[in-house]
Amino acid sequence: MTEMIRVTGGARLFGQVEVSGAKNACLPIMAATLLASGTHQIQRVPALTDVDILGQILKQLGCDFSHVHDQELIKIQVPDSLHLIISQQLAAMMRASVVLLGPLLTRFGHCMLPFPGGDAIGVRPIGEHIRALRALGASIEEESHCLVAQARKRLRGTRVRFDITTVTGTENLIMAAVLAQGETEICHAAREPEIVDLCEALRHMGALIEGEGTDTIRIQGRDSLKPMDYRVMPDRIEAGTLAVAVAMTQGSICLQHACAAHMGATLDVLVRAGVQIKEQAEGLQVTCEQALKPVQISTAPYPGLATDMQAQLMAMTTFIQGVSTIEETIYENRFGHVKELQKMGAHIHTTGRLATIQGVSTLHGASVVATDLRASACLILAGLVAQGQTHITGIHHLDRGYARLEHKLASLGAQIQRLS
Ligand code: EPU
Repeated sequence: MTEMIRVTGGARLFGQVEVSGAKNACLPIMAATLLASGTHQIQRVPALTDVDILGQILKQLGCDFSHVHDQELIKIQVPDSLHLIISQQLAAMMRASVVLLGPLLTRFGHCMLPFPGGDAIGVRPIGEHIRALRALGASIEEESHCLVAQARKRLRGTRVRFDITTVTGTENLIMAAVLAQGETEICHAAREPEIVDLCEALRHMGALIEGEGTDTIRIQGRDSLKPMDYRVMPDRIEAGTLAVAVAMTQGSICLQHACAAHMGATLDVLVRAGVQIKEQAEGLQVTCEQALKPVQISTAPYPGLATDMQAQLMAMTTFIQGVSTIEETIYENRFGHVKELQKMGAHIHTTGRLATIQGVSTLHGASVVATDLRASACLILAGLVAQGQTHITGIHHLDRGYARLEHKLASLGAQIQRLS
């Protein structure tokens, strides 16, 4: 069934909304359950297709997986031995399946994972993951589009320096190291809050880790770990997306559970553009009462501005009077939304990884196609302020990473529906 989202522009957003659990923390935490037999509980799990697909992969490996959607809870029962082959069909549906490599290799000494490949936003190589796991003693070869990973004996901790800042690469290495023999020191580690959350979950399992959130992480390997009962951090990208929606519609909302400490660079851009942000006990109050000012921004690894906010911020700049610039430094092809925004009347010029946006006074509704996850959110945001109706197809991308975004926006006053 092909679905689309229809947005009628013009409504201002008011009220309060709960921020869901973070996709990019939840997926590696689900993979981490493979590090210990027994029953794990994960709370504040967002209702996303990526979570469902990883659940199916865990089932294929031999785990019991159940997701109680209305309680945002999953239970994963990991047996003592697993079937260590992942089907091409499931792995191809989700690039993040690469985070299974570290846990399977360190605990079971073997794993066959279809090569995750690239996607719409870039080639996304995983050479750094492979180099890091090899440094711990694994042998990893590519055989007919599959990664065949083996460790003849227990992995051994060592000092590993990443050449490129990689989020899932750092996560894979951390998960491999928690059961390796001796100490692993990770230099030039990524510092994203989702990595800190994964380490916290691993600590609940008994792992010995220090330094997460900095670029040097030290891990003392343990002989075994125990099951976790863990609550996932709130999604800083979903919270940022909703904050941009408020900025664009000149509204005022409370983002319940949103954590300002994780959102520094995004909030900084919004404040520079003229948005007011107040931290309150229940979350973040975001208010916009004035015309926005142009911004000059560039994405970067954390604590820099998240590439996962780039498309949404571009939607915001399309109608800010003056010239804004957005540089995408992480992915070589993350401007798929530009062509679609242009269909809505946006004036955007791109040269390589730089987009120059000349704000227009109004966008107009159009039929547009979401080319990737964050592009889908960007087009919904543009639809909120466009004159008339915007129809967005390619909604399967949205469902990968946003839990009921259209319901949340509708509860704040947006005119938005999902149509089949
Ligand atoms: N890179 C390499 N070689 C490697 C690893 C990475 O060249 O071995 C490059 C990538 O191609 C990219 C850059 O380094 O250009 C950063 O990639 P990274 O490995 O950090 O990305 P990731 O771990 O695959 C995670 C998120 C992405 C998010 C990026 C950057 C998960 C499951 N995914 O991907 O999330 O954009 O970090 O912050 O955590 C999204 O949620 O929309 C999304 C794409």
